Amino acid sequence: MKLIYQQMLAFFAVIITVIVVLGFAFIRTTKTMIYQNSWQQLQQYATSIEKEAIRYNTRTKKVVGFNQQFLNDGTAILRDQNIHFSVYDATKKVVYPTTMGLNSMPSGSFYAPSISGADWRKLKQNKTITKSPHVSFKSRNHDRPVNTPALRTIDVLVPLFYKNGTTKKFVGAISIGSFEQTLQANEQQIENNLFIALLVSGIAALLLSYILARYSVRRINRLRYATHSVASGDFDIHVDSNHKDEIDDLADDFNGMVSSLRASNEEIKRQEKRRREFMADAAHEMRTPLTTINGILEGLAYDAIPEEDKAHSIVLMQNETKRLIRLVNENLDYEKIRTGQIALNKTNFDGAEVLHNLVEQLTKKAAAAEDQFSLTVPETLPVWADYDRFVQVLFNIMQNAIQFSQKGTIVVTASRSDHAAVIAVQDHGIGMTPEQVKNIWERYYKADPSRKNTKYGESGLGLAISHQLVQQHGGTIEVESEPDQGTRFTVTFPDEGFDKPIIED
Ligand SMILES: Nc1ncnc2c1ncn2[C@@H]1O[C@H](COP(=O)(O)OP(=O)(O)O)[C@@H](O)[C@H]1O
Ligand SMILES: [Mg+2]
Repeated sequence: MKLIYQQMLAFFAVIITVIVVLGFAFIRTTKTMIYQNSWQQLQQYATSIEKEAIRYNTRTKKVVGFNQQFLNDGTAILRDQNIHFSVYDATKKVVYPTTMGLNSMPSGSFYAPSISGADWRKLKQNKTITKSPHVSFKSRNHDRPVNTPALRTIDVLVPLFYKNGTTKKFVGAISIGSFEQTLQANEQQIENNLFIALLVSGIAALLLSYILARYSVRRINRLRYATHSVASGDFDIHVDSNHKDEIDDLADDFNGMVSSLRASNEEIKRQEKRRREFMADAAHEMRTPLTTINGILEGLAYDAIPEEDKAHSIVLMQNETKRLIRLVNENLDYEKIRTGQIALNKTNFDGAEVLHNLVEQLTKKAAAAEDQFSLTVPETLPVWADYDRFVQVLFNIMQNAIQFSQKGTIVVTASRSDHAAVIAVQDHGIGMTPEQVKNIWERYYKADPSRKNTKYGESGLGLAISHQLVQQHGGTIEVESEPDQGTRFTVTFPDEGFDKPIIED
């Protein structure tokens, strides 16, 4: 069954149950009220009959007669209202009606309910008795109840007491009854009204339950369509939510799920792009030396290279082969560092000495670019790192400084701060745009592709490796750069105990 019908059924069932229960309760209360009203009315009649119509014998203290005129008038009026009464003396004998026909029914029966012993005792105790519908007519001819339900009455039995000063004597009782028929007509009317109300509210309930069900089903369907869209690859979908109920919570969770799906989808795309670039770059880096070697080999094979150039050609081939080997090694190195496969052999050493040596080593290279070094280091600079890797990182950075600046000063400074050695290399070269800075830690990234294959034969792996190495040391490597102004790399190597590596992909 569709959810909308399930919900409608549930709503409808609840509403109808409530209406039916209320309806029955209402009918019961009105019935009781109708009975009580007529009992009250009957009792009032009884009181006035007693007051106006009954004569007592003050000596025998018995009911002896009636004000006939009052009774005749009263009986006639009451009979029109389907109300009948009879009077009993102290011996339970019916003393009124006595005259034939006055209080008789068309069927030849008359109103004279027989009073049970228990009721009579209660009357003697001056208690008024109310009776629910029962047969209270006697047939004159057969002296047996006429058991047509139409002749049932509801009655009130009122005791009669003769009062004279302090004396108070039980002298009989009045029974007064009204046809149930009259009451039933009222009840029928109420029931009819109620039935109409039930019908109307039933239709309203059906409509209401449809609206309610449709509302919540629509909200669920919205989520369903959104799920379909996501399944077919649309991650831009957003489900509105008022943050009010469980369906809203579901919508919020759904939106959260979609945005993380979107993020991971973008990450997958990014990774895929990087992988493709890596393959293309790696192929490119290898193709260049291989083409050179192949060219020379062909020249040799066809004897196209003059004898005096052969030695030089072989040196060229050796260089290219070395470059290939270095490329492969650096790649493997990078992978190993990245996946944490290398063990860092950390020791305490003097960083100042290392920096002096590096500057000395690179001065010749710098001179070729008409650069010069300025080194500001403390007497000693305690460093906690893998010696060879420390050298590798700074060599890469200083070499880049030479590579990307001309006729400038490369300022190398070193200091100690907060349980770490901090080394900064500042050049005044070509610099980088913020966009380029973002990517320099990527493998094979070269800010300016036209600079590929510079005379140093760099392959865009240097900074990627340096970055990984510094991270493995638990340190940081930061870069500030401005195009045509220069670049500043700052590397931090934390001391022992502060060098927990940050594992990051
Ligand atoms: N000091 C610098 N000044 C300007 N650009 C730099 C500097 N250092 C690095 N870069 C940029 O970052 C890129 C990546 O550097 P690196 O990983 O060492 O590769 P490579 O030196 O092989 O080009 C360089 O190609 C260059 O574009
Ligand atoms: Mg480099």
